[in-house]
Amino acid sequence: MNIVIQRISAAETYPVRHAELRKGRPLSSCAFEGDEQQSSIHLGAYAKDKLMGVASFMKAPFSEQAEVTAMQLRGMAVLTRFHRQGIGAQILDFGEQMLKEQQVSILWMNARILALDFYKNLGYSILGNEFHIPEVGAHFKMWKHLS
Ligand SMILES: CC(C)(COP(=O)(O)OP(=O)(O)OC[C@H]1O[C@@H](n2cnc3c(N)ncnc32)[C@H](O)[C@@H]1OP(=O)(O)O)[C@@H](O)C(=O)NCCC(=O)NCCS
Repeated sequence: MNIVIQRISAAETYPVRHAELRKGRPLSSCAFEGDEQQSSIHLGAYAKDKLMGVASFMKAPFSEQAEVTAMQLRGMAVLTRFHRQGIGAQILDFGEQMLKEQQVSILWMNARILALDFYKNLGYSILGNEFHIPEVGAHFKMWKHLS
């Protein structure tokens, strides 16, 4: 499948965020804090003009070390019928390359249990214990040094 990955607006991510991450909840639940920050990056993966997957990257500290430039991956999602075709991996890889060009050294995320293997396969490590995000469920913090 020929996929084009490009920057999009936060609002353009909503159809995929809603279907995959906020199912059954109001569309307004698809708006994340930080979406409209100037430093935030939103990516969409398209095939024949159809949006299939999205990911967002937002400035967020990883640790107490303020000198480390870190960003958080938010809203990583691919429409169910396109899962396991490498689209999620391509979006994340595209994002990592962009962040490296901006000298971002750490990318981290709060990973849902179902997505742990996806991130592990792309080189991310678990940090700390499982924790619960209200209305979303169990998560682990995961991270990777971008080099
Ligand atoms: C997580 C998600 C984005 C992965 O997207 P995807 O396009 O299906 O992933 P890819 O096809 O690029 O997968 C790359 C590799 O990750 C691993 N992987 C992906 N999904 C997996 C799963 N459900 N179980 C185990 N391994 C998985 C596999 O090793 C896969 O390679 P393979 O198919 O050759 O074995 C997608 O499943 C999704 O949108 N899920 C619902 C929303 C969600 O939970 N998002 C994560 C929030 S933290």
